[in-house]
Amino acid sequence: MMRMMLVAGARPNFVKIAPLMRAVAGYDDIEAILVHTGQHYDRAMSDAFFNDLEIRQPDINLNVGSASHAVQTAEVMKRFEPVLLEYVPDVVVVVGDVNSTIACALAAAKLGIPVAHVEAGLRSFDRAMPEEINRVLTDHISDFLFTTEPSAQRNLRREGVPPRKVFAVGNVMVDSLLGFLEKASHSDVLSRLRLGNGEAYALLTLHRPASVDDAASLRRLFEAINAISRSIPVLFPAHPRTRAQIEKHAVEVDPGVRLIEPLGYLDFLCLMSKARLVLTDSGGLQEETTVLGVPCLTMRENTERPITITCGTNRLVGSNARNILRHARSILAGRKRNGKIPRLWDGRAAERIVAILYRELSPGIRIDENRQQPALIAGASEFSLPAALLDRSHEIPLQNEIPHHASSL
Ligand code: UD1
Repeated sequence: MMRMMLVAGARPNFVKIAPLMRAVAGYDDIEAILVHTGQHYDRAMSDAFFNDLEIRQPDINLNVGSASHAVQTAEVMKRFEPVLLEYVPDVVVVVGDVNSTIACALAAAKLGIPVAHVEAGLRSFDRAMPEEINRVLTDHISDFLFTTEPSAQRNLRREGVPPRKVFAVGNVMVDSLLGFLEKASHSDVLSRLRLGNGEAYALLTLHRPASVDDAASLRRLFEAINAISRSIPVLFPAHPRTRAQIEKHAVEVDPGVRLIEPLGYLDFLCLMSKARLVLTDSGGLQEETTVLGVPCLTMRENTERPITITCGTNRLVGSNARNILRHARSILAGRKRNGKIPRLWDGRAAERIVAILYRELSPGIRIDENRQQPALIAGASEFSLPAALLDRSHEIPLQNEIPHHASSL
């Protein structure tokens, strides 16, 4: 029996853990232990997601709550270490780039427990983002690195991560999206928000420290958002920290911007899928809108998910109000780019991840330390993964990746 410990801490983690829990349930000889760190704890930020995504109750809740970065990260480590010592899992699976991700990866790696990082290799090349630090560190102490897009593989290779540890598997967030889209389409959120049938609206999310913690930057963004709301209603389910910052800095929000409580997964997915335009600073939304074919304006200077621009419907517009407005007007005037769905974003990423971990960590099978190719390919021939789970992304030549910056677009 293989013991797999899966960790989730914050809202976007829950979306990524759900398909992994489902995939693991298909194996009689894998025991899955679900750990919630408690980084997010409000009903709207946590329980609502467990319900909507049909994730069972966590086996362990570390209840860390909010604190400064150092305190939150340290507290997760302190509370996670005894759990690892008690359960001694064969592998710890962490997802994304939040503080819980690095904290649990570090605690496990220090005990010599293999770490699998889902959504590895993404880089914004901006160390001012706490998530960028979490990504780089987690990747470099992980034993299995599961990537969503080719840029991630190139980043890891450039940083010297051995290719045998890297597996191109697709995107678990897309697994959830495709799995729940039909159910989300029955949400009554539109009528609850009193939006008439077919009425056009834009959807806004904003929560990154760089966007909302600085009063001047928040005001600048709202200059553009307020102007957009004079052409189209802007629905704004606000993250608790954003709402607090708006109140603290008395930022002017026009009546066309409808500030509402954070929504659950299904309601939000329903709203996103029918939006004329999405405005965001989130990472996940850039990917979700790409799959839904909904135009997305990312109000940041860089993205760690360049495929959403080169292949999808995302555009980096930075934080300049005039620039944001110009792009929004162009979309509202009907000039919409037709994106494509990136390769392997097909709803089966979690299946691939669990299949690989099962094969690599099953007793009697050892990781080949000398393997030079990304392990999915080598693993596939050695352990006969189903053909449908194969990927050939390693054949993409290594280039000097140029980070996507808003200023260059
Ligand atoms: C975290 C992640 C970010 C992710 C985001 C999704 C890190 C470094 N950041 O940011 O990458 O995109 O989650 O939401 O891990 N709060 C509540 N209720 C909650 C949780 C938080 O009110 O359930 C408030 C608290 O005031 C807290 C603040 O939000 O101090 C920030 O929470 P925190 O978990 O530190 O980071 P996020 O901004 O949510």
